[in-house]
This record gives sequence, C-alpha cells and structure tokens, in this order.
Amino acid sequence: MSANTLTTTADLAERARAALRACGANGYEGTGPHAFSARSPITGEDLFTVAGSSESQVRAAISTTKAAFPAWRDTPAPVRGALIKRFGELLTEHKRDLADLVTIEVGKIGSEALGEVQEMIDICDLAVGMSRQLEGRTLASERPGHKLLETWHPLGVVGVITAFNFPCAPWAWNTAVALVCGDAVVWKPSQLTSLTALACSALLDRAIADAGAPAGIHRLVLASSAESAPLVDSPDVPLVSATGSERLGREIAPRIAARFGRTILELGGNNAAIVAPSADLDMATRGITFSAAGTAGQRCTTMRRLIVHEDIADELVARLTKVYTSLDIGDPFSAETLVGPLINEGAYAAMRDALERAVADGGEVVVGGERRLADSAAHGYYVEPAIVRMPAQTEVIRQETFAPILYVLTYRTFDEAIALHNDVPQGLSSSIFTTDQREAERFTSSAGSDCGIANVNIGTSGAEIGGAFGGEKTTGGGRESGSDAWRGYMRRATNTINYSTELPLAQGVNFG
Ligand code: SIN
Repeated sequence: MSANTLTTTADLAERARAALRACGANGYEGTGPHAFSARSPITGEDLFTVAGSSESQVRAAISTTKAAFPAWRDTPAPVRGALIKRFGELLTEHKRDLADLVTIEVGKIGSEALGEVQEMIDICDLAVGMSRQLEGRTLASERPGHKLLETWHPLGVVGVITAFNFPCAPWAWNTAVALVCGDAVVWKPSQLTSLTALACSALLDRAIADAGAPAGIHRLVLASSAESAPLVDSPDVPLVSATGSERLGREIAPRIAARFGRTILELGGNNAAIVAPSADLDMATRGITFSAAGTAGQRCTTMRRLIVHEDIADELVARLTKVYTSLDIGDPFSAETLVGPLINEGAYAAMRDALERAVADGGEVVVGGERRLADSAAHGYYVEPAIVRMPAQTEVIRQETFAPILYVLTYRTFDEAIALHNDVPQGLSSSIFTTDQREAERFTSSAGSDCGIANVNIGTSGAEIGGAFGGEKTTGGGRESGSDAWRGYMRRATNTINYSTELPLAQGVNFG
C-alpha cells in the first residue's frame, strides 16, 4: 500500500454530496422498495442510500422521451448542436466535481478520472461540429430527369446502458451524438455509479433549459436490470446502445432482435499486444504497464495478453516485473497512486479464481496477484497487478477476467503470433510494438489483427474520441463515438425524385 492514508467513508460521502450539489443534483437520497446503496471501492463501504427507479418509472421515462422526440427531430441540427455546446461548457466548468465522483465511485486515480471527463468534453466538441455536417449522398440515377438521394433521419428514443468502469464517457459518446442526430435518450447507468450519472444528468438538464430545448429529450433511470426491462423490450425504443459484459449482450441482444430493434453493443475485450524483436522495449514497457495495470485492469480495452517473441521474452518480463513492483497502489485521491482499488469483492474473487486456474494450467505467477490490506481499507480490494507466464493459450486466457492480470505467451514466427492473437472469442482492441514496417502494416491489414482497434507502438487502451470505438466477434460489432458512428443513431431513406415530365420505370420495364 502506498504511504498515503485512505480517505474515510464519511469524508467520501461528504465529498460526493458536495460535488452533486455543485452540479445541481438534488433529491436523490431516499428509501423505499427500489432504493440501493451508493458505495465507494476506496473503503468498500456504503456512502448513503439512493432512491432507485421502478419499472413504471422506466416506462414513464420512455413515454416522456417519446413525446419530446417530434419537436426535437424537427429542430434544425445546428440548433441541436447549440445544446451540446452549452453542455460541453457546463462539463468544463464542473470537470473537477465530476472527476471526484468518478474517483469516489470507481476508484480511478485523479488523472484518469479527469481524463474520462475530458473525453465527455471532447465528444461534445465533435458533436457540435457534426451538427453542421450531418450529410447524405446524391447518387447517379439510371433514369433521365431523376435524382437519387440518400437522406438520414433521427430514429426516436435511444436507450443507453452503461457499465461501472467508464461511468460517464460512453454515455456521452452516445448521448451527445444521438441528441445532435435528433434522437431522445433514456440512460440506465450501472447502479454502482449512480452518483456520477446523477451529476451528469443534472448538468445536461441545465443545458437543455439554457438552450430552450424540449425538457423531455433526456431521462435518467437508476433502475436494476430487472426493473429496466422496458428499455430492452419496448418497441418505443428503436435503438439500444449497451456497454457491458458478454453475458449482458447475450441476454439483451436476442430480446431486442425479437422485436426488430437495433443495437450498438460494446461487450467484452481480451486485448493483446504482440511485441516483436525489433520493438523499442522502453516504449513497450511503458505502454504495456499503462494498458495492463492502469485503471486496476478494469477497462474494456485493458491489455490482458502479451504475445512476445521468445528471444526478448525474458528481458521484457524482467523490465515489466521491475516496474510492477514499484507501482504505487492505494488511495486514488493520492497524487502518487497509480493503481486504485478493484470495484468490489466479486472482482477480487474472479481475479483469484483466474490466477488459480492459470497456475493449474502450468502458469507461473511472476509478480503480483496478492491483496494489500490496510486497517482503513478492510472492505476495499486493493490488488497487486499480476504477470503470469503461460505455456499455452488455455481456456482461462481465452476468457475476459476484469482484473489486472497480464498473461505472457511467446512466439517464434510472426504467423504464429497473429494466430495466437486472433484465437480468442473477443475482438475489441489490439496492438503491436515493432519497428519493422512490414510487421506493422501486416498487423493492421485484413490479414492481421481481427479487432475493431489495432494500434502500432501504443498500448490497447486510451482511445481518442475522433475514431469509431468498438469491436468484433463477441465484443458485439457496435461502433460509438467519432468517425461515421453517428449513422448508427439514424435511419437511412433512399429518395428517388422525378423532375421530368415522363414516367420511365427502372430496369426499362414497360407497363403499358
Ligand atoms: C473502455 O471503454 O473500457 C476504455 C476505453 C479506452 O480505454 O479507450
């Protein structure tokens, strides 16, 4: 444990209330059948009780947003952009408050918590620009005096389901873009991070009022998965964008498909880096440590597998071991800390279980894997990030364990490295450390990584909002954030316009 003293639960509760107050959130504490505890992984203890949402409140949120949709749809896109501009200003003003809440609820260190809020501000900037650039295409018609167009239109109510590990950025990737596209949004965050959601939602409500937008275009529901069933099953929600586990995806995707709804899914990752003999090992060591140990291994993009050439494996593992043993693990509010706590006991149990299975498969734990205890953190789960050398890619490695475990495998030929890399069910993020241009090009070509994100000489985590974010295979295939991901929040219409005085039919058909 780092030398720093853990903040007490009472301090955390007070700090959370102050941040919520500053963001304009109130009336959230409560009791009743749907209430649940807000908790901080920093001490592993409850902060206070939050009034949750019932199933009928979820239905009401869908009705409210559905009713607000037509007016918002008919608002010009650049005017919709003005709302997002105001929201971005408020996020900037309250960056510190929001980052505090992210640290309190997730245990992210200050710099990463601020980074997550910055990501919301960045996506607002992008969405404001997008609001003046939503576009369609004009295509060549085969008929004289005819015009063939592709136009894009808002879908309606978008359900956004987010996970604990990124309590606000993925919501903003979805919401800023969906609102600019003219959709309305109902947000169901993880109940583990309801306070961050309350603060973000209060700021968006303020932006909506300041911009004179229809009040009902956004609703937050703090419901359990069971109570939020209408978000998944209602035909009034044409699109559900969900971030979470593969299990979540397997549960909701068939239900949404059964009603012909659309999904944007960002599910599990089992992200790997290949390290080639030509790699800059200083750079690789830094990039790997951030991606594998940072955020206590709780990013979807966390690096979980290292596929390293056998000639440099010992040296790279020795360098990583040295860095891992010097990582400051402890209170995420302390400036020295680099690794905060796991979210809860379940995450720790999953980590222990994976390590035991890896050892049973012949793995050797080179460093880490132990829980660190401090008197004031009796219920917090602070773990040493682990590196495990494995003889082969066994089943435990092919599964995602949401904890800081880095499995090391070795390769001899580049073909073998690519095959090992792609031989997992998930397909979110990937990277290669090499200075050989042929390898870099091959890795990012269609014969290389099969993931949605394939990086060169950086780690697997820490994406920028300008690109589309998402992955293949059991990661779900969805894309959020930048590039043309906005198309996922709109429906496409093909328009054929006849401005001639004749009525020629396509394909030369003659109908009398
Ligand atoms: C995540 O969604 O878990 C992480 C995003 C990132 O690392 O860029």
